Amino acid sequence: MILFINACVRENSRTLHLAKDYISYYNNNNEPVTEVELCSAGLYPLGRDTLEKRESHIAEGNFADEMFAQAHLLKQADRIIIAAPYWDYSFPSLIKVWIEQLCVMGLTFDYSSEGIPTSLCSLNELVYITTAGGYIPEKNFGYDYVCEVFTSFFGVKKCRCIKAEGLDIAGNDPEEIIKMTKREYRK
Ligand SMILES: Cc1cc2nc3c(=O)[nH]c(=O)nc-3n(C[C@H](O)[C@H](O)[C@H](O)COP(=O)(O)O)c2cc1C
Repeated sequence: MILFINACVRENSRTLHLAKDYISYYNNNNEPVTEVELCSAGLYPLGRDTLEKRESHIAEGNFADEMFAQAHLLKQADRIIIAAPYWDYSFPSLIKVWIEQLCVMGLTFDYSSEGIPTSLCSLNELVYITTAGGYIPEKNFGYDYVCEVFTSFFGVKKCRCIKAEGLDIAGNDPEEIIKMTKREYRK
């Protein structure tokens, strides 16, 4: 199953438009795609009560609670596509909240006796799609962070970033830039 994480917030999001085009190109054998629209998924950041509740479920090895729904979805996926606009040098905070829900010891990852994380997922590939108003510097905090978490904890073997940059710079033609990005992944 392909898991499509939609972290786009604005109406007529250009990141979402690009991600949909990418999926229609890339998924030509029509593998099932499960979309999670983070804006309406009812996710919450872990607070004291929810963290304690989660820890007690983990200690019992009981992963039936709704709070593990995103982690269970992740375990069913073999490929993941994330669409996230470039915000404040990274991504909308919805992505961090979602990642908190995924990092469940004993369900999606575990630690070896040497303290090294080992994946309990069967993910092969991650594609991260973003658009930016300006230009993303060499330190691509959003993508690099997501790639690190998914490689170290969830065993992703291959990460790729697709980006369209400079869309809000006066004089640039955003439609043309997006077309160029589409041409690049079709090469
Ligand atoms: C809350 C917010 C934060 C943003 N932060 C940045 C930023 O740090 N750097 C940048 O180049 N553009 C930034 N932008 C511009 C967006 O990256 C750009 O408009 C992007 O294409 C929006 O994607 P969307 O059309 O999918 O919403 C920001 C936009 C918003 C709304």
